[in-house]
Amino acid sequence: MIALACDHTGMEMKAQLAAMLEEMGLPWKDYGCYEMNRDDDYPVFGYRAAKAVADGECDRAILVCGTGVGIGIAASKVKGIRACICSDVYSAELSKRHNDSNVLAMGARVVGTEVAKMIARHWLTAEFEGGRHQRRVDMITAIENGEAL
Ligand code: RB5
Repeated sequence: MIALACDHTGMEMKAQLAAMLEEMGLPWKDYGCYEMNRDDDYPVFGYRAAKAVADGECDRAILVCGTGVGIGIAASKVKGIRACICSDVYSAELSKRHNDSNVLAMGARVVGTEVAKMIARHWLTAEFEGGRHQRRVDMITAIENGEAL
């Protein structure tokens, strides 16, 4: 299950990503926002989708705000979440292969819809490589747990 979320800037892109997931045969769940309101707050929706991943209700999340930055930062504050804020295919794919990212955040004001779909497709089909990368991901988890490196 893929969690989707956005603020008002990302509603159209989120709809396009949902359609792409349908085509890929991947189930998805929408964690908002559900209506155009420029006073909405991206941390709310980023948090809800990230929490669904952290709690195991969803496998991954794809988030959209204006830049992808705010909603990505908010998601990464949830324990267990490693969000990548990406506007290119290479970073998105490597964020999965090397960093085991479980959240992808993109900016609707930064990338076009077709680029966002291509980024998401690469990210969704990439696999974590483990090995030496696991050691580094474990270090990130240690930081999250308040340990010193
Ligand atoms: C909303 O105007 C904008 O700040 C938000 O979508 C996002 O870009 C924040 O990081």
